[in-house]
Amino acid sequence: MYLTKEEERMMDGEEGYAVKKSMEILVALGDIYGAERLIEVGSVQVAGVSYHNLGDAGLGFLNELAEDGTVKVLTTLNPAGMDLEDWKRLGIDAEFARKQNLVIDAFKKMGILISCTCTPYLIGNLPIYGEHIAWSESSAVTFVNSVIGAKTNREGGPSALAAAFVGKTPYYGLHLDENRVPDTHVQITTELKNLPDWGALGYSIGKRVENKIPYITGITDASLDKLKSFCASVVTYGSKPLFYINGITPGSERHRPPNEMITIEDRDIKEAYESINDDVSIIDLVCVGCPHCSIKEIAEIAELLNNKKISSNTEFWVACSRLMKQMADKRGYTETIERAGGKFACDTCMAVAPLKGRFRSVATTSAKGCYYSRHNGMLTKMGSLEECIEAAVRGRWS
Ligand code: F3S
Repeated sequence: MYLTKEEERMMDGEEGYAVKKSMEILVALGDIYGAERLIEVGSVQVAGVSYHNLGDAGLGFLNELAEDGTVKVLTTLNPAGMDLEDWKRLGIDAEFARKQNLVIDAFKKMGILISCTCTPYLIGNLPIYGEHIAWSESSAVTFVNSVIGAKTNREGGPSALAAAFVGKTPYYGLHLDENRVPDTHVQITTELKNLPDWGALGYSIGKRVENKIPYITGITDASLDKLKSFCASVVTYGSKPLFYINGITPGSERHRPPNEMITIEDRDIKEAYESINDDVSIIDLVCVGCPHCSIKEIAEIAELLNNKKISSNTEFWVACSRLMKQMADKRGYTETIERAGGKFACDTCMAVAPLKGRFRSVATTSAKGCYYSRHNGMLTKMGSLEECIEAAVRGRWS
């Protein structure tokens, strides 16, 4: 890969260990994928923040980098393994909290914004159309590629961090227009009635297109919350982190539906629900906010929980960024939700918190949430916000 004089100097260690190590990672990646050069990035989103996933080896790696390096571009963080302020209330043990805080300290030292959210585009890390960025949270990568029209590969945690220290990323994959051409036409003939239907749609499309870029027709109406849910599920279940929806997402007008075509019908959505949902009725945990809740979603939760009481056998978590919670505090949503017995899980989520063995079953609005909860050994139910709140109040799925 071609390196400028300045990049060569970074590679030689003139800017310190963290930048040198980062250059090595970026050059290795560029060589593997045949990139000709590096390009500047406008921002970075770093995943791999939970101590639950990093362990001591990951913490050691971060501390080494933090010793002599700070990031060159706006860099935000994915959810951590706990609510950084209220971890005790979520039942996190003290030793885990201590280690998680060491991880956060290392990121702070690097000059990274301790945002701890998978929806950085809702809290100020919002790229513009066509901008090159290096992000590493799959749902957010899919959102910015597809809904905003920014350009990023699905980075791993270390390669995103390396891009942050250098301010650049190898120019390959989804940074190149020729790799952003849709290759499967997905025709939707079913009506999407609520948020989890979009998750089910993502499941169906992801499974059917398998590592391709779908061009979707037949959808006439969408919203930010529906699209963020769809982004999370379509990439989790198999597609590339980029799609086009005719008439809705940017760039769809520049492409024609590809010849290869599949159709998603009522029965595909039904089958998706059947695959995602387990045969379970007692619900231990209800968690909404995957991806992290918008303020509009929190408002809906508060309205539905008003004058209700959550079952003493069930935990109800609202996963969101701390900034979103601060807005909820000001509008009185927090008070309503907490009065009903709900808890805010800021900075974290059901996939990256150490939940294994704590809950037997979870209900959520999110197909991605179900996927990762199963990995945590839980039985899963996916339903509408109304159904999830009903489950939290009754302690069972009806
Ligand atoms: Fe976000 Fe966690 Fe879901 S990172 S997309 S809330 S699994």
